[in-house]
Amino acid sequence: MTTHCNRPLYALGIETSCDETSAAVVALDDGSGDILSNVVLSQIAEHSAFGGVVPEIAARAHVEALDGVIRAALDDAGMELSGLDLVSATAGPGLIGGLIVGLMTGKAIAAASGLPLVPVNHLEAHALTARLTNGTAFPYLLLLVSGGHTQVVLVRGVGNYERWATTIDDALGEAFDKTAKLLGLPYPGGPAVEDAAVKGDAGRFALPRPLRGEERPDFSFSGLKTAVRQKANELAPVTEQDIRDICASFQQAIVDTLTERIGKSLMRFRGEFAGITEPTLVVAGGVAANKTIRGSLETLCAAHGMRLVAPPPALCSDNGAMIAWAGLERFAAGLADDDALSFAPRPRWPLDEFAIPLVGHGKRGAKA
Ligand code: KG4
Ligand code: ZN
Repeated sequence: MTTHCNRPLYALGIETSCDETSAAVVALDDGSGDILSNVVLSQIAEHSAFGGVVPEIAARAHVEALDGVIRAALDDAGMELSGLDLVSATAGPGLIGGLIVGLMTGKAIAAASGLPLVPVNHLEAHALTARLTNGTAFPYLLLLVSGGHTQVVLVRGVGNYERWATTIDDALGEAFDKTAKLLGLPYPGGPAVEDAAVKGDAGRFALPRPLRGEERPDFSFSGLKTAVRQKANELAPVTEQDIRDICASFQQAIVDTLTERIGKSLMRFRGEFAGITEPTLVVAGGVAANKTIRGSLETLCAAHGMRLVAPPPALCSDNGAMIAWAGLERFAAGLADDDALSFAPRPRWPLDEFAIPLVGHGKRGAKA
């Protein structure tokens, strides 16, 4: 990678695409990254009563919190705007209200300070995080598992992505959240299901493994959620132990499904990139925080002669540091847009613009 000068570049990153208001200062020095600050303000308390993210509440909360979060990020880093080289802000995909708040704030800071603005694709930021945390070299395979996306993407370089697999219905995080909701567990559902599963019997319920054995490498999770609903209805009223056993059986079905489905993309990667020294699968997105899933991915990668890179959970879920880093990577690669101040937010913005949309895909693709 080349930087434009011999000193480090510093970026302020702003993230407001969903239910986290976040800002961070990150440095890029000779190809490697350094997080000087990363302030993340979660809106979980505002949304939990509704069992999910309410877009209007999210946008209002971003408006109220963002200035203070940016100030705190600059203070934590010991920086003023004058010390920065660029400002980057998530421009999509995501909830439009939040995107407007973050991108407009980024534009205002850029216009007032004379700094360049780099509008960032939130999915690209997830995709490049492993380079910030682990210095992972291109090319690598990315498994993005979040509340809005479940994709396997070939990452060839900055701005060069090829989607190999995606979900035909629910995203994986969405399946966790819906399962939690129907069992009466709190939002966000992923951590609640993972906790409940610890004391559960994964063998008690035989839940489906959607698309198992199919040639295509895609994913499907909505049938699994329906099967959980049927089980819960059969058992009603469910006991605490029933809930634990359902969660454990659900998580086992997810692990089996991911292992079987992702195996296809790993084999393809090994075939197409036979010569590379460290074939790598990077996992990113909120679901990557799940320890059982991480463990099963380790085993899967080892079986395919690949290395698993999983950024720390705090950098797998939404944060400003990954936005700052993606801005730096784009800027350093000469991909920053000269006309960024007129860039409009994009609620839908696929990483691979040329991928053929699948039936059912994008139903809830606003979130990443
Ligand atoms: O990437 P992320 O923080 O936000 C977006 O979706 O943009 O991902 C959030 C998703 C939620 O669906 C949440 O339930 C899920 O990640 N999640 C988990 C865990 N922690 C968060 N899913 C399974 N196990 C977890 N430990
Ligand atoms: Zn995300």
